[in-house]
Amino acid sequence: MTDSVANDAAVTDRARLAGSAYNGDRDLAARQSLYQWQVPRYDLPGIVADQLSGVREHGRVVDVGCGNGKFIERLRQDRPDLHLLGLDIAPGIIADVPGPVAVADVVRLPLADASTDAALALHMLYHAKDVAQAVSELSRIVADDGLVIASTNSDRDKVELDELWARAAGDVLGTGRGPARISLSARFTLEKAPAFLGEEFDRVATIELPGTITVRDAGPVVAHMASYQAWSDQHDVPFEATIERARTILDGHITRHGAFEIRCLGGVLVCRR
Ligand SMILES: C[S@@+](CC[C@H](N)C(=O)[O-])C[C@H]1O[C@@H](n2cnc3c(N)ncnc32)[C@H](O)[C@@H]1O
Repeated sequence: MTDSVANDAAVTDRARLAGSAYNGDRDLAARQSLYQWQVPRYDLPGIVADQLSGVREHGRVVDVGCGNGKFIERLRQDRPDLHLLGLDIAPGIIADVPGPVAVADVVRLPLADASTDAALALHMLYHAKDVAQAVSELSRIVADDGLVIASTNSDRDKVELDELWARAAGDVLGTGRGPARISLSARFTLEKAPAFLGEEFDRVATIELPGTITVRDAGPVVAHMASYQAWSDQHDVPFEATIERARTILDGHITRHGAFEIRCLGGVLVCRR
């Protein structure tokens, strides 16, 4: 297998997603929590809630790949009138999300045609086995005047973490620059997303969310790196040793420069017919 084929297989492997990567919310929460050090800070659930402001009273909204329910929780507060449904491939991660929730795969949604006013697919389409089929399913379940809101990261997002990993892995292997870390969003980046979504929707508006994370302690970055534990066998380098080496590099950098900076670029895509 080529690196990218192996990467794709690992990122879409249902057993790995449901059984380890998202069998609870610990790893997802570690990745989400790094953003508390980002400037500017974005209220992502608030941005999504704003985009849903045109959804009729008592309308239906489905959050596909709802994860730990961050968006459902916020919508319950902001729009208590809406009928919300959370779907996810991983039973473990939805166990504590207040219902209704169900296990389902975005490529085969258990919902009737045009049965919902809006569908969310936030930071999840890159996990779909067939991204085009997933977009077609989202389009199928949404009413003609409805909308789909997707989100993902740019291929330029957090390049400093890619660099840090490759350097730490190289040090561990004694090879100079080591193998790249797994990329979750590579199959559906902010750059690729409009073409996928444009197959089903006439209007795809991208809201870019650039920012910089600044940390003065290696801990949150190390926790972020460690949250890829489910894919530890995909790195062609001992995982724990690479993370410990990254910690040492980070400590040295922070001692010399006072902080470590990571440039971020995420985005939200709002799709209508
Ligand atoms: C990165 S998390 C994002 C969670 C949430 N949407 C958010 O933005 O906080 C990806 C979620 O998608 C789920 N997922 C992965 N593949 C899926 C699929 N094929 N169908 C439905 N959900 C899937 C995972 O179990 C996980 O909860």
